[in-house]
Amino acid sequence: MAWRWRLISFLLWLPSFWNDWNEPCRRHLLNQDSKEAFSIASKQYRTAFHFQPPQNWINGFPASLILLSTVSYYQQNQIGPMLYNGIYHLFYQYNPYSAKWGNITWGHSISTDLINWTPLDIALRPSEPFDLQGCWSGSATILPGNKPVILYTGISESGHNVQNIALPKNISDPFLLEWVKPPYNPVMVAEGVKPTQFRDPSTCWLGKDGLWRTTVGAEDFEKKAKALLYRSKDFVKWTRAEQPLFSTDSSSMIECIDFFPVSAKWKRGLDGSTIEAEDVKHVLKMGVFDNSHDYYLIGKYLEELDEFIPENVVEDDHRMWLRYDYGSFYASKTFFDAENRRRVLWAWSNESDTISDDIVKGWAGVQTVPRTIWLDENGKQLVQWPVRELESLRMEKVELKDVKVSKGGLIEIKGVKASQADIEVEFEFPELKKAELIYHDWKLDDAQMACDEMCSSVPGSIGPFGLLVLASHDLEEHTAIFFRVFKTSTAHAVLMCSDQRKYVIDHSVVESFGAGGRTCITARVYPKLLLTGDTHIYVFNNGSETVKITKLKAWEMAKARIN
Ligand SMILES: *[C@@H]1O[C@H](CO)[C@@H](O)[C@H](O)[C@H]1NC(C)=O
Ligand SMILES: *[C@@H]1O[C@H](CO)[C@@H](O)[C@H](O)[C@H]1NC(C)=O
Ligand SMILES: *[C@@H]1O[C@H](CO)[C@@H](O)[C@H](O)[C@H]1NC(C)=O
Ligand SMILES: *[C@@H]1O[C@H](CO)[C@@H](O)[C@H](O)[C@H]1NC(C)=O
Repeated sequence: MAWRWRLISFLLWLPSFWNDWNEPCRRHLLNQDSKEAFSIASKQYRTAFHFQPPQNWINGFPASLILLSTVSYYQQNQIGPMLYNGIYHLFYQYNPYSAKWGNITWGHSISTDLINWTPLDIALRPSEPFDLQGCWSGSATILPGNKPVILYTGISESGHNVQNIALPKNISDPFLLEWVKPPYNPVMVAEGVKPTQFRDPSTCWLGKDGLWRTTVGAEDFEKKAKALLYRSKDFVKWTRAEQPLFSTDSSSMIECIDFFPVSAKWKRGLDGSTIEAEDVKHVLKMGVFDNSHDYYLIGKYLEELDEFIPENVVEDDHRMWLRYDYGSFYASKTFFDAENRRRVLWAWSNESDTISDDIVKGWAGVQTVPRTIWLDENGKQLVQWPVRELESLRMEKVELKDVKVSKGGLIEIKGVKASQADIEVEFEFPELKKAELIYHDWKLDDAQMACDEMCSSVPGSIGPFGLLVLASHDLEEHTAIFFRVFKTSTAHAVLMCSDQRKYVIDHSVVESFGAGGRTCITARVYPKLLLTGDTHIYVFNNGSETVKITKLKAWEMAKARIN
């Protein structure tokens, strides 16, 4: 399942409240010893519109190189009827042999709408001394003349991370089926950093000086994380810049780096090489190896110095950085969709069941629904929303308007298949002065802790209220997505005047988008009741104040053609 919510005006710090997908609030894990659970595992948890290969493992922790890289490849009228003139290529980290981590290759699928996918042969497999232990994450860049090129991390025969190039064998093949690894590989080897901690070359960008640039995550011998910068004139010979693009003491290793421009003026996306335009800022996204969370910073890219200077960062502490998503979401990557002038974000959402469950299921890992991503008007954070193509899967619709939910209230949303849905809700709260007071300055960790303590069952004032999804009739099993309004002694909930939410539900995945896409959480849940199919969706309120559902729209979602 996946869902989204939109909260009109929302506090920046509130997003962290949604963290509470973690224990102890989440309570519906599969019982690992249950035969019954095993029998549903194979079918019912499989998603209907989240990208997955037909079977086996995608992406990989603990090696945790980026799992996915994407290229939007423009090709006119090459295949039958299509919605757009382009073909989207999705490359993903894939184990062709098993539902567990290992034997990493680059799986390859194509689509014309980012929703329905056709599988192709594996694009990159270990074959050479420079990638014998796996073809790990990387990126694709389109060079002038519409020539795609892949930069990827190979783990060499000797176990070192090196960066390699792969080129399409036949540039006229619209499917880019075959890729060749030129003999001059590897093009980058570790210098001054740990040879086992040096990976995931980013999509390249072109500087004014005509040199291509990429950034590679690394850990030096002082346990300092670096976004190393490399430059090249010909894409063959790469030279490391003396200064990294960015470095931090707050993590040992950063991986899956993504670096891209955004505009404070438009929602539309920018080409990766856009640097000197008014209102352009840059986003540096890093996967923090120590805790497997994706964080990002917004700042200025000083092209002269080839340095990234984050804004609004006072301490070198990754816990203060922003996150795309507070749930199961890692190794994300964006690409610029030139045809639709948008930047699209994907991430790997891994299973939270056990490896033995995964083996029984025969698969592990999904990609999140692709999200359009842009800079908020305030210039301080990013906003995400599922690509509009997802709406093509909407079927039956149920609507509610102006329904009050008082303390202890529970309203069932009937008429849509509760395991596969897209829901938008808008709530109205009572006076904000009734909000609960919080006494100290917030840090994300505090919010996370508070969230862990205050589950949906801990009564409050304005909230907790929200949705119960994948719920059994007796509520014995459910997943709550809830909302709770607080205030601090200074700034706060003043902004919370209306709350609209949207949800998309797809079996074992729940994606939620709060605050109009400023707060996102992807959760993995394995409710046992999917076995009977008797799932329900409810709106609930466990706060003392009555809230009003001003608008609720729920759609049952069709199954997409996924590989
Ligand atoms: C990797 O592939 C080999 C076969 O080529 C297989 O024997 C091994 O079990 C695989 N390992 C995993 C973890 O999939
Ligand atoms: C390259 O691809 C094009 C388009 O699919 C095809 O017509 C051509 O035969 C291919 N060339 C080779 C050498 O395979
Ligand atoms: C994958 O899921 C497991 C179990 O929930 C979790 O401990 C781990 O951190 C996750 N890995 C990543 C990379 O998110
Ligand atoms: C609401 O609170 C009551 C009392 O604590 C609890 O039993 C119930 O489970 C709560 N509802 C939800 C959805 O958590």
